[in-house]
Amino acid sequence: MIYHMFGKITLSIIKPDAVKKGHSISILSKIVHAGFHIVALKMTELSKKSAIKFYKEHKEKSFFESLVEFMSSGPIISIILEKENAVRDFRILIGNTNPIDAEKGTIRNLYATSLEKNAIHGSDSNQNAFKECQFFFSSREIFLIEDIL
Ligand code: CMP
Repeated sequence: MIYHMFGKITLSIIKPDAVKKGHSISILSKIVHAGFHIVALKMTELSKKSAIKFYKEHKEKSFFESLVEFMSSGPIISIILEKENAVRDFRILIGNTNPIDAEKGTIRNLYATSLEKNAIHGSDSNQNAFKECQFFFSSREIFLIEDIL
């Protein structure tokens, strides 16, 4: 169902640190004001097993265990966003992975507190966006803009 949206969607996660601090609505508001359409959204929790699966590309990294622990430490909000050049534009909106280097006004500059607790995730390529969307959502949970309007 989302095959024809390849290149126009990205997967975001509002991470446990930002959800716990009550930043979810402010973050969602910034995303929508930046021109992204929410086409799927859910509040959920990653089990350790799911977090290991989601971050499998990082499994050899020194921070992997801590990342899995953190990402399964509380509720998250996973979102599919639709926009032209969604992956690139969303990564600009959220800012550098490390909040110290995130540009002023970006989501990580405003809400992240460390490289690990960096408030939000955005897919890093169209291929990964596609895989990550399928990780969190079934086709029945995705409502493309042209189907809604
Ligand atoms: P994100 O890009 O959303 O997904 C992978 C996460 O790993 C990344 O955000 C950071 O939160 C985390 N990460 C990346 N590099 C490091 C690092 N050097 N130390 C700790 N966490 C990291």
